[in-house]
Amino acid sequence: MADRLSHVESRNITHLTPESPVFWEAARGANVRDVDGNVYLDLTGAFGVSVAGHTPEGVVDGIRAQSDRLIHGMGDVHPPAAKVEFLEALAALGPWPDSRAILGSSGSEAVEAALKTALLVNGRPGILAFEGAYHGLTLGSLATTYREDFRGPFLSRLYEGVRFAPYPKPGEGKKEIKRGLDKIRWLLREGDGGDEVGAVIIEPIQGRAGVRIPPPGYLEALADLTWNAKALLIFDEIFTGLGRTGALFGFLHEGVVPDLLCLGKGLGGGLPLSACVGPARIMNAWPPSRGEAIHTSTFLGNPLACAAGTAFLKELAAGDLVNRSKIMGETLLGLLREALAAIPSVAEVRGRGLFVGVDLRDPSTGAPLRKAAVRAATLALREGILVLPAGAYGHVLELSPPLVIRQDQVEWVVPKLEEAIRGALAE
Ligand SMILES: Cc1ncc(COP(=O)(O)O)c(C=O)c1O
Repeated sequence: MADRLSHVESRNITHLTPESPVFWEAARGANVRDVDGNVYLDLTGAFGVSVAGHTPEGVVDGIRAQSDRLIHGMGDVHPPAAKVEFLEALAALGPWPDSRAILGSSGSEAVEAALKTALLVNGRPGILAFEGAYHGLTLGSLATTYREDFRGPFLSRLYEGVRFAPYPKPGEGKKEIKRGLDKIRWLLREGDGGDEVGAVIIEPIQGRAGVRIPPPGYLEALADLTWNAKALLIFDEIFTGLGRTGALFGFLHEGVVPDLLCLGKGLGGGLPLSACVGPARIMNAWPPSRGEAIHTSTFLGNPLACAAGTAFLKELAAGDLVNRSKIMGETLLGLLREALAAIPSVAEVRGRGLFVGVDLRDPSTGAPLRKAAVRAATLALREGILVLPAGAYGHVLELSPPLVIRQDQVEWVVPKLEEAIRGALAE
């Protein structure tokens, strides 16, 4: 498979080594089977997408029923009924009584729709994003993504009015956090001479930066600063939304409702579907359509994706998955903390719901242990565990399993993760 792939796919997309990747053939619940018949426990949820598990029955039924009728429509011209049904189900999630959405296929598209909306609202093009942020890799979203390796080769194509503020780092003291907020206040009020900031975009928990959780009250302080400056607050909940953190949305832990919300990943139950959602008072910054949408795409409101999305939202509720995430997340966090307590290089095991990070650092200097989580993930793969490294230095093991992961699977995997981490640290 690797050899065949290398002859047909552009370089740089799939990292091919003698051991990795494994080629998936089938998956159910929290298990994945590869083409050689090996079975893995999936702690990635396939990038956090398989919220209701892999191949969830209700979603499969929804896709099957829809595929008998209509698999593609004309999203913004002659919309499929499935789009209306999905949008109604999405609106019913809240958090606004009059929510309006723009659909897309990828998370990056939802971010771009939110950034466009903010510009229509206040006309101020500047954007405040955060160090460590990951909002996608299309050019508009990439401008707000922080990591140099993603941005570097394309800098000349990126909008230059994005400023990056410090995101609270794990273990950081109140003084540093206040300094970061002061910088944001200054950028929002006085400005640095660049484009005036009209939008602040943040992940309520940073995922790819290594499951970084801001301290209590941080998002509230940020919201105050943003709103005092009459800018818009966008929460990118593409990773943290839909139950991942043990609440329907990550912001519910803090009680700060943003102006705009970006959703993606699990939204389509495994099919490509994303949304930028906001209350009518904000979304109505978009002018009425005069016959041709100024923002749309060929697959907007794709009926198959919408039917899968509607079925997924039903599963989320019927399976009490948000609560499951909270309870199983506490179990996973507790067991991991206990198992890893004696390893000095495990600086922190943190998490909320089934979104957990194991932060590996030099115990004497506190410096991130470069690639330690990459090595641990490689060792875990040999033991039948799919898990991903995260963090700027590949020093955080990131766990975002399907919310249907069972207690016995959690109990099985924790000692194996401990072994993999010990092995990686010994290398
Ligand atoms: C927080 C966040 N925003 C945006 C994206 C981009 O989504 P996509 O890869 O679907 O474009 C991701 C993807 O990992 C993400 O985690």
